[in-house]
Amino acid sequence: MTTNDPTRQTLAQLGADSPDKVATLFSELRAAFDRDAAQDIASIDLGITRVKWQGRKSGILSEITEHWLKPASKEVKPAVGQNLNALKSHIEERIARLTAEKDAAGEQSAAARDKIDLSLPGIERAIGTRHLIRQTYDELLRIFTAIGFSVVAGPEIETPYYNFEALNIPEHHPARDNMDTFYIAGARGGHLLRTHTSPMQIRTMEKQKPPVRIVVPGKVYRRDNPDATHGYMFHQIEGLAVDTDITFCDFKGTVDYFAREFLGPKTKTRLRPSYFPFTEPSAEVDATCHVCGGTGCRVCKQSGWIELFGAGMVNPAVYGFVGYDPEKYSGFAFGMGVDRLAMMKYGVTEVPLLFQNDVRFLKQFP
Ligand code: DAH
Repeated sequence: MTTNDPTRQTLAQLGADSPDKVATLFSELRAAFDRDAAQDIASIDLGITRVKWQGRKSGILSEITEHWLKPASKEVKPAVGQNLNALKSHIEERIARLTAEKDAAGEQSAAARDKIDLSLPGIERAIGTRHLIRQTYDELLRIFTAIGFSVVAGPEIETPYYNFEALNIPEHHPARDNMDTFYIAGARGGHLLRTHTSPMQIRTMEKQKPPVRIVVPGKVYRRDNPDATHGYMFHQIEGLAVDTDITFCDFKGTVDYFAREFLGPKTKTRLRPSYFPFTEPSAEVDATCHVCGGTGCRVCKQSGWIELFGAGMVNPAVYGFVGYDPEKYSGFAFGMGVDRLAMMKYGVTEVPLLFQNDVRFLKQFP
């Protein structure tokens, strides 16, 4: 600011000797402020305009208070006071408005920078379904609990006693070889991963007197080479019913009921002689094919029959291991492969599909 800056001179020096002339001087100042403010809209902050006009020390409002108002003559003093107040509030209002506008503009550009489009719909979360194995477990367990079986679970790490010996599979019995067992290295007492759910027959009968009616779902492990039809882990359901007077008819009736529930009301069954150390007699249970009804198709390999599970009447030798009197009690047992039954029923041809968790596969079983 130069020395002939009007705001540093008195009104007398400026020749403003009437209210009109004072008003003119103020309207020029107001126009000057408006120009500054208009320029400021484009600039980053309002600091410069604020200091220039409102600054305490040498802001224009302070200067004119000092040079115009204080020494003003009586004739013009009221006009100076009024005009000064009007200019002050004009400047305050304008700066407040500009500050608000700038804040809003700042928020907008921050939003643009973060690329948030608040009008976009949210991200939809896919809702999962129960896995096919789980669905099959639920279906199988429903069928058995409906006729009075209870569901029990047992350990996946077992001892040879429960997995083999007490099931009438002594050491060196060839049935041990079929089961390609995973032994746990260094485990005291030679623990192993159970090769079937049958050990739970023993654990249950050890603790409970007849009547016993249980189904045991669970994972089992075998050292198979994984391929289209084998994995090293699969799922079974064991079944056991022991009481006084349980006959082969009860066994056959239960098997028929199961087959009709699982594969449809027209399903028929047949028993083929088989061998398991813990049942006598033993049988493989077959059912008429649910796809062709028994006439022969791709699913039953043209035979009309599909294999359901192994079963039989509990071998009296097993009762010896759990302290049941074989003269008094009898019963039947069965062991089914859940994965096999699921694949057969739903036409899945490859075991790995059950374990890869590929959503394109899982989605087909909603
Ligand atoms: N434990 C047998 C296996 O895994 C299946 C089995 C067959 C279980 C007959 C039984 C049964 O309870 O009676 O191959």
